[in-house]
Amino acid sequence: MDRKVVIFDHPLIQHKLSILRNTETSTKDFRELVNEIAMLMTFEATRDLPTEDIRVQTPCGVADCKQIAGRKLAFVPILRAGLGMVDGCLKLVPSARVGHIGLYRNEKTLQPVEYYCKLPKDIEERDVFVVDPMLATGGSAIDAISQIKLRKPRSIKFLCLIAAPEGLEALEKAHPDVDIYAAGLDSYLNENGYIVPGLGDAGDRIFGTK
Ligand code: PRP
Ligand code: URA
Repeated sequence: MDRKVVIFDHPLIQHKLSILRNTETSTKDFRELVNEIAMLMTFEATRDLPTEDIRVQTPCGVADCKQIAGRKLAFVPILRAGLGMVDGCLKLVPSARVGHIGLYRNEKTLQPVEYYCKLPKDIEERDVFVVDPMLATGGSAIDAISQIKLRKPRSIKFLCLIAAPEGLEALEKAHPDVDIYAAGLDSYLNENGYIVPGLGDAGDRIFGTK
């Protein structure tokens, strides 16, 4: 099956992303919007979950319906900014498990430095959604996905709010089997590895640390 790269053009997502980018947006609103966009993205990213037929007794008769056919999901945020997306994802799939991958970018080399990895025990049975608001050079996402692949999950998808062309290309090349969902695709990376126009430092804006 061909891999999927989805750049969202839905008006609700575009509208929320515009507010998110604005420097005037408060930490509280930023946090809420990150979760709302993550929830909308999860709706699309789970579109191919298999369903099975069921019959349901309604007050007026019997309805032929569908239910999700026993797939197990896990959301894996890349710490720390990815944490900001988890509640939004879980709103749609409350029974999903959550793993964590701790990585930060060395500010000089821009290389990811790993400091934590805790994944659900039964990850081999799960479809994994790796979440991180920013795909800049792609180093963090590539590294996180490589770590998760060692544990052999059923499948992996990657969800981010903003991607840089450089990161998208690098991730596509490194993990050609991973579907990628981005709420927006921006212009380029600046000399400090920040996405332009982007939204600044996602972690700092979610947690109010700057
Ligand atoms: C940010 C972001 C990604 C990474 C993207 O995290 O949340 O994880 O940078 O950059 P890359 O594509 O060039 O690897 P950061 O390292 O700032 O850590 P934080 O989440 O702890 O703020
Ligand atoms: N990490 C961020 O938080 N923002 C960027 O623009 C790039 C990496």
